[in-house]
Amino acid sequence: MFSFFKKKKQNEDEDFDHALPITADMHNHLLPNLDDGAKTVEESLEMIQGFVAMGIKKIVMTPHIMHNFYNNGPDTILPALELMRSKVKELGIPVHLEAAAEYYFDEVFFHKVKNREPLLSFGNNQYILFETAFPTEPINLKEGISAIQSLGLFPVFAHPERYQYIQNDFNKAKSIFSTGALFQINALSLVGHYGKAPQTIAEKLIDLDMVHFIGSDCHKPKQLEDLVKARKTKAYQKALDSNLYNQYV
Ligand SMILES: [Fe+2]
Repeated sequence: MFSFFKKKKQNEDEDFDHALPITADMHNHLLPNLDDGAKTVEESLEMIQGFVAMGIKKIVMTPHIMHNFYNNGPDTILPALELMRSKVKELGIPVHLEAAAEYYFDEVFFHKVKNREPLLSFGNNQYILFETAFPTEPINLKEGISAIQSLGLFPVFAHPERYQYIQNDFNKAKSIFSTGALFQINALSLVGHYGKAPQTIAEKLIDLDMVHFIGSDCHKPKQLEDLVKARKTKAYQKALDSNLYNQYV
């Protein structure tokens, strides 16, 4: 049933625009007033409409959950999801909204996983999106990944290209990849939105076929313009040629 994901193009002369487009975004901060993403319902709607204009049909919104900083959980995220679902319905915006979270990998998250507490997941309740601190790889990262896997879930490592520890030592990316964690790069990295180093690493991950998901990680309406540009880059189009998991969301 997934044969149409095969990268083989029918015609070698076919240009990049003909690759299968991404129609689901699974990493963004579009839910209003929960983190450093959308500040208002209006901003959220502006971004949702921007996504729809790009051809996105399904949006899994993933607010930060970070102990003592973004104290989100089902109690804050699910009502915000319901609110935005009612708004898009009211306005007739053709999009399907879901919500999960972007977990910050810290001791609190680690213990939550170890204690087998329920987590906010997406894609038939199988994917768990998490990020780490930017400068240093957490000492128990691999143990945490393995603990998530032992719950029967697939850990999704958010934006590997943005971490300094991976920019400084690409072997760390390979080592984390070998755990079976799924890699999600940010589309915005491909236009240098975060600087040259993340762009270089993101392109390298695509070249090495180490990308499972592409997410927007969109926080603000003004990022929409760069997202449109990112979707036209050769690197993005090349990534579409691989079996991206966005299609399973
Ligand atoms: Fe994010």
